[in-house]
Amino acid sequence: MPAISLRCRVCEQEHGLEPIGVCSRCFGPLDPVYDWDALRESVSAETIASGPPSLWRYADLLPVAAPAEPRLAPGLTPLVRAPRLATALGVGEVWLKLETANPTHSFKDRVVAVAAAKALEIGATTLSCSSTGNLANAVAARAAAEGLEAVILCPADLEPEKLAATAVYGATIYAVDGTYDDCSRLSVELSFELEWAFVNVGLRAYYAEGSKTLAFEIAEQLGWRAPDAVVAPIASGALYSKVHQGFAELRTLGLLDDAAPRLYGGQAEGCAPVAAAFAEGRAVKPLRPSTLARSLAIGNPADGDLAVATAQASGGAVYAVAEDEIGANMALLAETTGVFGETAAGVTLGALREAVRRGEVGEQDTVVLLVTGDGLKTPQPVADSVQPIVVEPDGDALLERLGVVL
Ligand SMILES: Cc1ncc(COP(=O)(O)O)c(C=O)c1O
Ligand SMILES: [Zn+2]
Repeated sequence: MPAISLRCRVCEQEHGLEPIGVCSRCFGPLDPVYDWDALRESVSAETIASGPPSLWRYADLLPVAAPAEPRLAPGLTPLVRAPRLATALGVGEVWLKLETANPTHSFKDRVVAVAAAKALEIGATTLSCSSTGNLANAVAARAAAEGLEAVILCPADLEPEKLAATAVYGATIYAVDGTYDDCSRLSVELSFELEWAFVNVGLRAYYAEGSKTLAFEIAEQLGWRAPDAVVAPIASGALYSKVHQGFAELRTLGLLDDAAPRLYGGQAEGCAPVAAAFAEGRAVKPLRPSTLARSLAIGNPADGDLAVATAQASGGAVYAVAEDEIGANMALLAETTGVFGETAAGVTLGALREAVRRGEVGEQDTVVLLVTGDGLKTPQPVADSVQPIVVEPDGDALLERLGVVL
């Protein structure tokens, strides 16, 4: 395994590859460190292509060893062209990365697969998390697949679909009377007292790395090319920042010659601390979320400042999307591509539309839009589109209604 240590993002202190959530010296966040010289020798497009058809084909670039017998392995999700959406938007080429194809229908299966591999390595018996919904689904399913207990802390007002898609795997759910940020604080407190493997606390450095496999797959699926832009939703900011890091790592390895893509990020207007910080060129200020996009409702994002820096470094931007555009964007995506994405996808498409409106993305660009979660888990914003025509089970009557003269 080529990861050699964890390094503090703030004071640069190096730590062993332990399940520690933050730097013991300054409480800063940690990132795995790799031996890039060794990896340049050992990793090539061919070695990757000969790997398994899942994210474990990139195991050499992850901080855990691939499981001997991967179960429910996520990744290598379809990257499909969306020509009708591209025309509707006035963008050269649009591709959709269908994270709905993962085992629990969101990209969270990636981060949990990596964190769970570490949890198994250290002999943990309980997998736990604070979650805005999709992470709960992924942790519960992963625990079931691996024979671990799962304990979830989530806001009590989560979509019923997301609660059902957690409970069904046998997870214990604590529905917290509060926001995600309350759940997150609670999980940090509990992590000092319990032996549970909290995927987004003690295992966060491992967990977050799972998201960079999205960049690896996009480049590989485009024939080791980078798109001009990638559009992603932002909650904690980890996914957005790690996708940027993933493209940079491919360049370091010599697998990608193209410039790194511009990264556009979307937040819902009712919870847009990162978009506001980007717009005003300042640090992220925590706020209390009130948004339809519950999966993105993090008011105090752990990687918010990193996300702002990522937008600036990549030449992209982070935009807030009006609450009443989320459902309309979910419908636009579905009607022009056949893909039913969740509220986060409505936000992501809104960010792309804003970049187009501002003339930052257009006919000259190839864009990848991340569809990070499934609309069947969040059908409420498009409920208005359900207007079936009630008919009798009578063919003649229906044909008459259609104006067919018999
Ligand atoms: C569907 C979906 N997309 C995007 C995100 C944002 O991920 P991050 O917290 O890494 O910014 C989430 C987070 O829960 C999510 O559920
Ligand atoms: Zn530190």
